[in-house]
Amino acid sequence: MGKSRVLVVGGTGYIGKRIVKASLAEGHPTYILRRKEIGLDIDKLQMLLEFKRQGARLIEGSFSDHRSLVEAVKQVDVVICTMSGVHFRSHNLLMQLKLVDAIKEAGNVKRLLPSEFGIDAARMEHALEPGRVTFDEKMIVRREIQEAQIPYTYVSANCFAGYFAGNLAQMETLLPPKDKLFIYGHGNVKAIYMDEDDIATYTIKTIDDPRTLNKTVYLRPSENILTQRELVEIWEKLSGNTLEKITISEEEFLAQMKGGDFVMQVGLGHFYHIFYEGCLTNFEIGEDGEEASILYPEVQYTRMHEYLSRYL
Ligand SMILES: NC(=O)c1ccc[n+]([C@@H]2O[C@H](COP(=O)([O-])OP(=O)(O)OC[C@H]3O[C@@H](n4cnc5c(N)ncnc54)[C@H](OP(=O)(O)O)[C@@H]3O)[C@@H](O)[C@H]2O)c1
Repeated sequence: MGKSRVLVVGGTGYIGKRIVKASLAEGHPTYILRRKEIGLDIDKLQMLLEFKRQGARLIEGSFSDHRSLVEAVKQVDVVICTMSGVHFRSHNLLMQLKLVDAIKEAGNVKRLLPSEFGIDAARMEHALEPGRVTFDEKMIVRREIQEAQIPYTYVSANCFAGYFAGNLAQMETLLPPKDKLFIYGHGNVKAIYMDEDDIATYTIKTIDDPRTLNKTVYLRPSENILTQRELVEIWEKLSGNTLEKITISEEEFLAQMKGGDFVMQVGLGHFYHIFYEGCLTNFEIGEDGEEASILYPEVQYTRMHEYLSRYL
Protein backbone atom coordinates (compact mmCIF):
# COMPACT_ATOMS: atom_id res chain seq x y z
CA MET A 1 0.00 0.00 0.00
CA GLY A 2 1.41 3.41 -1.02
CA LYS A 3 1.77 6.30 1.37
CA SER A 4 -1.34 8.41 1.68
CA ARG A 5 -1.59 11.75 -0.11
CA VAL A 6 -1.62 14.59 2.40
CA LEU A 7 -3.08 18.06 2.07
CA VAL A 8 -1.82 20.62 4.58
CA VAL A 9 -4.15 23.57 5.03
CA GLY A 10 -2.25 26.39 6.73
CA GLY A 11 1.05 25.09 5.39
CA THR A 12 2.97 28.34 5.81
CA GLY A 13 2.03 28.74 9.47
CA TYR A 14 4.15 28.19 12.57
CA ILE A 15 3.29 24.52 13.01
CA GLY A 16 1.96 23.99 9.47
CA LYS A 17 5.30 24.53 7.75
CA ARG A 18 6.89 21.91 9.98
CA ILE A 19 4.12 19.47 9.14
CA VAL A 20 4.74 20.03 5.43
CA LYS A 21 8.45 19.28 5.98
CA ALA A 22 7.70 16.16 8.01
CA SER A 23 5.25 14.92 5.41
CA LEU A 24 7.79 15.36 2.61
CA ALA A 25 10.48 13.71 4.73
CA GLU A 26 8.25 10.67 5.30
CA GLY A 27 7.72 10.36 1.55
CA HIS A 28 4.03 11.28 1.43
CA PRO A 29 2.79 12.94 -1.73
CA THR A 30 2.30 16.33 -0.09
CA TYR A 31 -0.13 19.03 -1.18
CA ILE A 32 -0.46 22.51 0.25
CA LEU A 33 -3.41 24.83 -0.08
CA ARG A 34 -2.19 28.03 -1.76
CA ARG A 35 -4.76 30.58 -0.74
CA LYS A 36 -5.58 33.32 -3.18
CA GLU A 37 -5.74 35.73 -0.23
CA ILE A 38 -1.99 35.63 0.37
CA GLY A 39 -1.85 38.44 -2.19
CA LEU A 40 1.41 40.32 -1.86
CA ASP A 41 2.73 38.35 1.10
CA ILE A 42 6.10 37.62 -0.45
CA ASP A 43 7.36 35.52 2.49
CA LYS A 44 4.41 33.14 2.25
CA LEU A 45 4.74 32.84 -1.49
CA GLN A 46 8.48 32.21 -1.33
CA MET A 47 7.95 29.54 1.28
CA LEU A 48 5.34 27.85 -0.87
CA LEU A 49 7.63 27.94 -3.90
CA GLU A 50 10.45 26.45 -1.84
CA PHE A 51 8.15 23.62 -0.70
CA LYS A 52 7.21 23.11 -4.34
CA ARG A 53 10.90 22.86 -5.20
CA GLN A 54 11.19 20.16 -2.54
CA GLY A 55 8.39 18.19 -4.15
CA ALA A 56 5.17 19.54 -2.67
CA ARG A 57 2.24 20.29 -4.95
CA LEU A 58 0.43 23.58 -4.53
CA ILE A 59 -3.34 23.62 -4.93
CA GLU A 60 -5.01 26.96 -5.38
CA GLY A 61 -8.04 27.49 -3.18
CA SER A 62 -9.84 29.82 -0.84
CA PHE A 63 -12.03 29.62 2.22
CA SER A 64 -14.42 31.93 0.41
CA ASP A 65 -14.79 29.48 -2.46
CA HIS A 66 -16.45 26.25 -1.33
CA ARG A 67 -15.91 24.51 -4.69
CA SER A 68 -12.18 25.16 -4.56
CA LEU A 69 -11.98 23.48 -1.15
CA VAL A 70 -14.01 20.50 -2.39
CA GLU A 71 -11.72 20.15 -5.42
CA ALA A 72 -8.63 20.42 -3.22
CA VAL A 73 -9.65 17.75 -0.73
CA LYS A 74 -10.77 15.41 -3.53
CA GLN A 75 -7.13 15.08 -4.57
CA VAL A 76 -5.91 13.61 -1.28
CA ASP A 77 -6.47 10.92 1.33
CA VAL A 78 -5.57 12.89 4.45
CA VAL A 79 -6.19 16.52 5.37
CA ILE A 80 -4.18 18.18 8.12
CA CYS A 81 -5.43 21.61 9.10
CA THR A 82 -3.16 23.94 11.01
CA MET A 83 -5.47 26.95 11.02
CA SER A 84 -4.35 29.79 13.28
CA GLY A 85 -5.45 29.68 16.89
CA VAL A 86 -3.26 31.96 19.00
CA HIS A 87 -4.82 35.28 19.91
CA PHE A 88 -1.68 37.39 19.76
CA ARG A 89 -1.15 36.11 16.18
CA SER A 90 -4.57 35.35 14.74
CA HIS A 91 -7.47 33.14 15.74
CA ASN A 92 -9.62 31.68 13.00
CA LEU A 93 -10.39 28.19 14.25
CA LEU A 94 -14.06 28.28 13.23
CA MET A 95 -13.12 28.80 9.59
CA GLN A 96 -12.38 25.10 9.68
CA LEU A 97 -16.13 24.46 9.54
CA LYS A 98 -15.90 25.37 5.86
CA LEU A 99 -13.21 22.77 5.38
CA VAL A 100 -15.34 20.18 7.19
CA ASP A 101 -18.23 21.01 4.84
CA ALA A 102 -15.98 20.51 1.83
CA ILE A 103 -14.68 17.19 3.16
CA LYS A 104 -18.25 16.07 3.86
CA GLU A 105 -19.24 16.84 0.29
CA ALA A 106 -16.13 15.32 -1.30
CA GLY A 107 -16.60 12.11 0.68
CA ASN A 108 -13.18 10.62 -0.07
CA VAL A 109 -11.01 11.77 2.84
CA LYS A 110 -9.77 8.89 5.00
CA ARG A 111 -8.49 11.02 7.85
CA LEU A 112 -8.82 14.62 9.01
CA LEU A 113 -6.53 16.14 11.60
CA PRO A 114 -8.09 19.47 12.58
CA SER A 115 -6.13 22.32 14.10
CA GLU A 116 -5.62 21.11 17.65
CA PHE A 117 -1.96 20.68 18.69
CA GLY A 118 -2.38 21.93 22.24
CA ILE A 119 -4.25 21.21 25.47
CA ASP A 120 -6.90 18.53 24.95
CA ALA A 121 -10.00 20.67 24.41
CA ALA A 122 -12.30 17.84 25.52
CA ARG A 123 -10.93 18.13 29.05
CA MET A 124 -11.43 21.88 29.33
CA GLU A 125 -15.16 22.22 29.95
CA HIS A 126 -14.35 24.08 33.15
CA ALA A 127 -11.83 26.47 31.53
CA LEU A 128 -11.70 30.12 32.52
CA GLU A 129 -13.18 32.91 30.46
CA PRO A 130 -12.13 34.36 28.09
CA GLY A 131 -9.36 31.86 27.19
CA ARG A 132 -11.87 29.02 27.03
CA VAL A 133 -12.84 30.27 23.56
CA THR A 134 -9.94 28.28 22.11
CA PHE A 135 -11.23 25.03 23.61
CA ASP A 136 -14.88 25.81 22.88
CA GLU A 137 -14.15 26.49 19.22
CA LYS A 138 -11.99 23.38 18.87
CA MET A 139 -14.90 21.39 20.35
CA ILE A 140 -17.37 22.91 17.89
CA VAL A 141 -15.11 21.76 15.05
CA ARG A 142 -14.75 18.29 16.61
CA ARG A 143 -18.53 17.91 16.90
CA GLU A 144 -18.99 18.82 13.25
CA ILE A 145 -16.35 16.30 12.20
CA GLN A 146 -17.89 13.54 14.26
CA GLU A 147 -21.46 14.30 13.20
CA ALA A 148 -20.32 14.11 9.58
CA GLN A 149 -18.62 10.78 10.40
CA ILE A 150 -15.33 11.95 8.99
CA PRO A 151 -12.49 9.74 10.28
CA TYR A 152 -10.21 11.83 12.50
CA THR A 153 -7.18 12.02 14.73
CA TYR A 154 -6.78 14.80 17.30
CA VAL A 155 -3.20 15.61 18.23
CA SER A 156 -2.76 16.99 21.73
CA ALA A 157 0.76 18.37 21.50
CA ASN A 158 0.96 20.05 24.92
CA CYS A 159 3.39 23.01 25.17
CA PHE A 160 5.21 24.18 22.05
CA ALA A 161 8.70 24.61 23.44
CA GLY A 162 9.21 27.86 21.54
CA TYR A 163 6.34 29.44 23.46
CA PHE A 164 6.76 27.80 26.85
CA ALA A 165 10.30 26.42 27.36
CA GLY A 166 12.58 29.02 25.76
CA ASN A 167 11.18 31.66 28.11
CA LEU A 168 11.16 29.31 31.13
CA ALA A 169 7.37 29.63 31.09
CA GLN A 170 7.37 33.41 31.53
CA MET A 171 4.68 35.46 29.85
CA GLU A 172 5.26 38.28 27.35
CA THR A 173 8.72 37.13 26.31
CA LEU A 174 10.12 34.28 24.21
CA LEU A 175 13.61 34.44 25.73
CA PRO A 176 15.02 33.11 28.99
CA PRO A 177 15.07 35.79 31.69
CA LYS A 178 18.53 37.04 32.63
CA ASP A 179 18.26 37.59 36.37
CA LYS A 180 14.86 36.76 37.88
CA LEU A 181 11.67 34.94 37.03
CA PHE A 182 8.24 34.04 38.30
CA ILE A 183 7.61 30.58 39.71
CA TYR A 184 3.97 29.54 39.59
CA GLY A 185 2.86 28.40 43.04
CA HIS A 186 5.26 25.77 44.36
CA GLY A 187 6.54 25.28 40.81
CA ASN A 188 6.16 21.51 41.01
CA VAL A 189 3.22 20.97 38.69
CA LYS A 190 4.18 18.80 35.73
CA ALA A 191 3.87 20.24 32.22
CA ILE A 192 5.00 18.73 28.90
CA TYR A 193 7.31 20.55 26.50
CA MET A 194 7.62 19.58 22.84
CA ASP A 195 10.04 20.59 20.12
CA GLU A 196 7.83 21.79 17.27
CA ASP A 197 9.61 19.66 14.66
CA ASP A 198 8.97 16.60 16.82
CA ILE A 199 5.28 17.52 16.99
CA ALA A 200 5.24 17.47 13.20
CA THR A 201 7.10 14.15 13.03
CA TYR A 202 4.68 12.46 15.45
CA THR A 203 1.70 14.03 13.67
CA ILE A 204 2.71 12.55 10.32
CA LYS A 205 3.31 9.14 11.93
CA THR A 206 -0.32 9.00 13.05
CA ILE A 207 -2.01 9.55 9.71
CA ASP A 208 -1.77 6.05 8.24
CA ASP A 209 -1.83 4.28 11.57
CA PRO A 210 -5.02 2.29 12.34
CA ARG A 211 -4.24 2.57 16.06
CA THR A 212 -4.87 6.31 15.96
CA LEU A 213 -8.10 6.24 13.97
CA ASN A 214 -10.80 8.28 15.71
CA LYS A 215 -8.55 8.83 18.71
CA THR A 216 -6.70 11.59 20.48
CA VAL A 217 -2.94 11.18 20.33
CA TYR A 218 -1.19 12.76 23.29
CA LEU A 219 2.47 13.75 22.95
CA ARG A 220 3.92 12.85 26.32
CA PRO A 221 7.51 11.65 25.92
CA SER A 222 8.61 10.82 29.45
CA GLU A 223 11.77 12.94 29.65
CA ASN A 224 9.89 16.05 28.55
CA ILE A 225 7.38 15.90 31.39
CA LEU A 226 8.88 18.52 33.68
CA THR A 227 7.92 20.84 36.48
CA GLN A 228 8.66 24.52 36.03
CA ARG A 229 11.43 24.20 38.63
CA GLU A 230 13.01 21.31 36.70
CA LEU A 231 12.89 23.34 33.49
CA VAL A 232 14.56 26.31 35.20
CA GLU A 233 17.20 24.01 36.68
CA ILE A 234 18.08 22.71 33.20
CA TRP A 235 18.59 26.28 32.01
CA GLU A 236 20.59 27.25 35.09
CA LYS A 237 22.94 24.31 34.54
CA LEU A 238 23.34 25.12 30.86
CA SER A 239 23.88 28.85 31.36
CA GLY A 240 25.79 28.65 34.63
CA ASN A 241 23.54 31.43 35.89
CA THR A 242 21.33 31.10 38.98
CA LEU A 243 18.12 33.10 38.70
CA GLU A 244 16.21 34.83 41.48
CA LYS A 245 12.85 33.07 41.88
CA ILE A 246 9.77 35.05 42.76
CA THR A 247 6.91 32.84 43.83
CA ILE A 248 3.51 33.95 42.61
CA SER A 249 0.48 32.45 44.35
CA GLU A 250 -2.61 31.27 42.51
CA GLU A 251 -4.60 34.24 43.83
CA GLU A 252 -1.96 36.78 42.80
CA PHE A 253 -1.70 35.20 39.38
CA LEU A 254 -5.44 35.28 38.75
CA ALA A 255 -5.72 38.84 40.09
CA GLN A 256 -3.65 40.00 37.10
CA MET A 257 -6.60 39.14 34.88
CA LYS A 258 -8.53 42.17 36.13
CA GLY A 259 -8.02 45.11 33.83
CA GLY A 260 -5.82 43.17 31.42
CA ASP A 261 -6.64 43.30 27.73
CA PHE A 262 -8.36 40.37 26.03
CA VAL A 263 -5.19 38.78 24.65
CA MET A 264 -3.50 39.01 28.05
CA GLN A 265 -6.52 37.45 29.76
CA VAL A 266 -6.57 34.55 27.30
CA GLY A 267 -2.86 33.93 27.90
CA LEU A 268 -3.21 34.11 31.68
CA GLY A 269 -6.07 31.61 31.61
CA HIS A 270 -4.07 29.10 29.57
CA PHE A 271 -1.00 29.53 31.78
CA TYR A 272 -3.19 29.08 34.85
CA HIS A 273 -4.58 25.76 33.63
CA ILE A 274 -1.14 24.47 32.67
CA PHE A 275 1.01 25.64 35.58
CA TYR A 276 -1.37 25.75 38.57
CA GLU A 277 -4.02 23.20 37.70
CA GLY A 278 -1.74 20.77 35.84
CA CYS A 279 -4.23 20.21 33.01
CA LEU A 280 -1.65 18.52 30.77
CA THR A 281 -0.79 15.76 33.21
CA ASN A 282 -3.61 15.43 35.76
CA PHE A 283 -5.29 12.56 33.92
CA GLU A 284 -4.54 9.10 32.62
CA ILE A 285 -4.89 8.48 28.91
CA GLY A 286 -8.02 6.40 28.45
CA GLU A 287 -9.34 4.10 25.74
CA ASP A 288 -10.10 7.00 23.41
CA GLY A 289 -6.45 8.04 23.41
CA GLU A 290 -2.92 6.89 22.61
CA GLU A 291 0.50 8.19 23.62
CA ALA A 292 2.84 9.07 20.77
CA SER A 293 6.22 8.05 22.20
CA ILE A 294 4.81 4.61 23.05
CA LEU A 295 3.36 4.21 19.55
CA TYR A 296 6.53 5.45 17.85
CA PRO A 297 9.53 4.63 20.05
CA GLU A 298 11.83 5.08 17.03
CA VAL A 299 11.39 8.87 17.15
CA GLN A 300 14.42 10.43 18.84
CA TYR A 301 12.60 13.32 20.45
CA THR A 302 14.40 16.47 21.52
CA ARG A 303 15.05 16.78 25.25
CA MET A 304 14.78 20.20 26.80
CA HIS A 305 18.49 20.61 27.62
CA GLU A 306 19.13 20.27 23.89
CA TYR A 307 16.27 22.62 22.98
CA LEU A 308 17.34 25.24 25.52
CA SER A 309 20.98 25.12 24.40
CA ARG A 310 19.83 27.12 21.35
CA TYR A 311 19.26 30.09 23.64
CA LEU A 312 22.80 30.21 25.08
N1 LIG B 1 0.45 23.88 22.16
C1 LIG B 1 0.93 25.08 21.99
O1 LIG B 1 1.80 25.55 22.74
C2 LIG B 1 0.44 25.87 20.84
C3 LIG B 1 1.06 27.07 20.52
C4 LIG B 1 0.63 27.75 19.39
C5 LIG B 1 -0.42 27.25 18.62
N2 LIG B 1 -1.02 26.10 18.97
C6 LIG B 1 -2.12 25.58 18.14
O2 LIG B 1 -1.59 25.23 16.87
C7 LIG B 1 -2.54 25.50 15.86
C8 LIG B 1 -1.91 26.33 14.76
O3 LIG B 1 -1.41 27.54 15.28
P1 LIG B 1 -0.21 28.34 14.60
O4 LIG B 1 0.36 29.25 15.64
O5 LIG B 1 0.71 27.37 13.92
O6 LIG B 1 -0.99 29.19 13.54
P2 LIG B 1 -0.49 30.43 12.66
O7 LIG B 1 0.93 30.24 12.28
O8 LIG B 1 -0.81 31.69 13.39
O9 LIG B 1 -1.44 30.34 11.38
C9 LIG B 1 -1.55 29.13 10.68
C10 LIG B 1 -2.22 29.34 9.35
O10 LIG B 1 -3.56 29.72 9.50
C11 LIG B 1 -3.98 30.17 8.22
N3 LIG B 1 -4.86 31.34 8.35
C12 LIG B 1 -4.74 32.39 9.18
N4 LIG B 1 -5.75 33.25 8.97
C13 LIG B 1 -6.52 32.74 7.98
C14 LIG B 1 -7.69 33.14 7.33
N5 LIG B 1 -8.30 34.29 7.65
N6 LIG B 1 -8.20 32.35 6.36
C15 LIG B 1 -7.61 31.19 6.03
N7 LIG B 1 -6.47 30.75 6.62
C16 LIG B 1 -5.95 31.51 7.58
C17 LIG B 1 -2.74 30.60 7.43
O11 LIG B 1 -2.62 29.63 6.40
P3 LIG B 1 -1.77 29.84 5.04
O12 LIG B 1 -0.50 29.11 5.28
O13 LIG B 1 -2.64 29.24 4.01
O14 LIG B 1 -1.58 31.31 4.85
C18 LIG B 1 -1.65 30.45 8.47
O15 LIG B 1 -0.41 30.11 7.95
C19 LIG B 1 -3.74 26.15 16.55
O16 LIG B 1 -4.74 25.18 16.75
C20 LIG B 1 -3.19 26.63 17.86
O17 LIG B 1 -4.18 26.68 18.89
C21 LIG B 1 -0.61 25.39 20.05
